[in-house]
Amino acid sequence: MKKFGIISFVSLLLIACSSSPVVTSPDGSLSVRLEQSGDGEISYSVARDEQTIISSSPLGFLTREQPLQSGFKVTGTKKETYSSEWETVWGEERVIEDQHNSLLVSLAHESGILMDIEFRVFNDGFAFRYIFPEQEQKELTITDELTAYRFAGSAEAWSIPWRTEYYEGLWSKRTISGNGQPSTRDTLCSPITLEFADGSYGFLHEAALADYPAQNLYVREGALRTYLTPWFNSEVKAYVTTPFSTPWRMVILTKTLRELVASRIMLNLNEPCKIEDTSWIRPMKFMGIWWGMHIKTMTWEQGPHHGATTENMERYLHFAKDHGIQAVLAEGWNLGWEDWKHFDFTTPYDDWDMDYLSRLADSLGVQIVGHNETGGNAADYEKNLDTIYRYHTAHGIRAIKTGYVAPVIRTLDGLQWNKGQSGVRHYRKVIETAAKYHIMIDNHEPVMPTGLQRTYPNLVSQEGVRGQEWNAWSNDGGSPCEHVTVLPFTRIMAGPVDYTPGVFHFENPVIPTTRVHSTLMNQLGLFVCFYSPLQMACDLPEHYMEHADAFTFIEHVPCDWEKSLLVDGKIGDYCVFARQERGGSNWYLGGITDEEARDVAIPLDFLKQQSQAPHHKYKAVIYQDAEDANWESRPYAYSIKEMEVTASDTLLIRMAPGGGFAAELIDEN
Ligand code: NOJ
Repeated sequence: MKKFGIISFVSLLLIACSSSPVVTSPDGSLSVRLEQSGDGEISYSVARDEQTIISSSPLGFLTREQPLQSGFKVTGTKKETYSSEWETVWGEERVIEDQHNSLLVSLAHESGILMDIEFRVFNDGFAFRYIFPEQEQKELTITDELTAYRFAGSAEAWSIPWRTEYYEGLWSKRTISGNGQPSTRDTLCSPITLEFADGSYGFLHEAALADYPAQNLYVREGALRTYLTPWFNSEVKAYVTTPFSTPWRMVILTKTLRELVASRIMLNLNEPCKIEDTSWIRPMKFMGIWWGMHIKTMTWEQGPHHGATTENMERYLHFAKDHGIQAVLAEGWNLGWEDWKHFDFTTPYDDWDMDYLSRLADSLGVQIVGHNETGGNAADYEKNLDTIYRYHTAHGIRAIKTGYVAPVIRTLDGLQWNKGQSGVRHYRKVIETAAKYHIMIDNHEPVMPTGLQRTYPNLVSQEGVRGQEWNAWSNDGGSPCEHVTVLPFTRIMAGPVDYTPGVFHFENPVIPTTRVHSTLMNQLGLFVCFYSPLQMACDLPEHYMEHADAFTFIEHVPCDWEKSLLVDGKIGDYCVFARQERGGSNWYLGGITDEEARDVAIPLDFLKQQSQAPHHKYKAVIYQDAEDANWESRPYAYSIKEMEVTASDTLLIRMAPGGGFAAELIDEN
């Protein structure tokens, strides 16, 4: 990602040994203080407008070599002020501002081990990381990270338990602090989204996870504490070689939900782009030989209903070209699907003519999205990455969806949790190797995103969500309507999501007890509410042609944005997003609701930012639920209307139970 117009003012201040160093946000509202007890225990606290938000909370580690819990001395502090803006290769915003103040505290442990803590305080949150500088102690074996968050007020957390397979769970709200007993003894996945009793919000996660296990969180003795994903069947969490920096521990804190969603702290905490030429990284929409396998009318493996045949792919490629969809995914094109014992990523089934299809795709100007399902055999995949990526690039494939279906994966270190240190290393290796071959990665069964896409923008999307496929086969009948209204404020806060929106046909022939709990308009709304630069329109071509007028919105909606904003929303109830297309002046609106119908008022004042004339006109094309629409009985009832609007108008739109809407605001000047 390009960096430009840096206005970076840096002030250095070296203080010998202040007892309680403090750092405040650029607007002065948020302050973070490092505290030390008599026996050298270190902790921190956070205040906003002089009110404590996080009271004294522990820092430090347990390691096999030394308990790094007490016995610390502050040997120096350094403060900096930072202000810059940078341009994203793709994203919800083209330009991102980074304004923060930082404090580096150097500590010496009585054992001789050196450890620094770097704090960064933004107007909308704070973060810190531990740094083990170059020193005599070369190796550390971390058995526990002691970082905790003792929220002063009552707080509820939207979360999923840490062992939720592939993060594919329904998020629910649990009390984590306050007068009452915490309502959970579960260990939770990171991130969690916090609703505080005073109506403000928080988002607790980590940024820039590399060569370290993913964090999880649990409540004990009034504080949220860190549980690092261990090495499999071991008490060890991380093997660290100094010099080493941990990922950032990050808490976004905002008074409104709109500000929470707009926070870009996580991206700012990641390293700038390491890929010099990013011209080959292109956001795009794609379709796929995919939904058919999930609703079980097609198969991955070869047989009478094989999905990935040359003939079927030809049909998809032509359809994509005719409808302006840039790419088509095909799953089940390669050997290995019969028994999942060994996937071969360079040998197609004999009813798949890769050479012919890659030439056809090229002549149509449509890309093929590759699919590498490893079945959890990450070791085998990693050993063959160069060969596999050479094969794909030789066939013009520039994006690959990877998969790791196995609750415990096999890495070069043996059986491992995918979000343990070894798994994190593997995923990173895949992204870096793919970058060398100019391949974009859409990582399924991933480690939760932490903003790494700033550094490696070829990591274009990730799953890590209970996605649309659950609505095809889940025993519980499909995700409740509420689910999609939680995700923009939880999972998607962590990064782009390959949820695969766009089901247009709700009858499920093979498993009729399971279905998508939404109206067709809700499916359109997802294209704006759920951010992904690689956005799949997941249904079958013939289903799209049943509602060709509604499919026009999918043809038009971009997946790369100049600006984005949450217009209105409530976690678990509804949301409305507005986004401006990148490099253009059209805007797109999307709204989704849970099982309750809702009337939403959408002031179009955001259009003012670009139109100078007070009555600058836009043609609004609005796709909305009909009066009697309902996800259960009338999901296909919708209307499409056009009208002229200006920035001073307010759109009034009704979303049906399980419904939603989408709109295109076309700049007419
Ligand atoms: C699970 C993925 O989420 C899904 O998209 C894919 O089709 C299957 N694994 C097979 O790889």
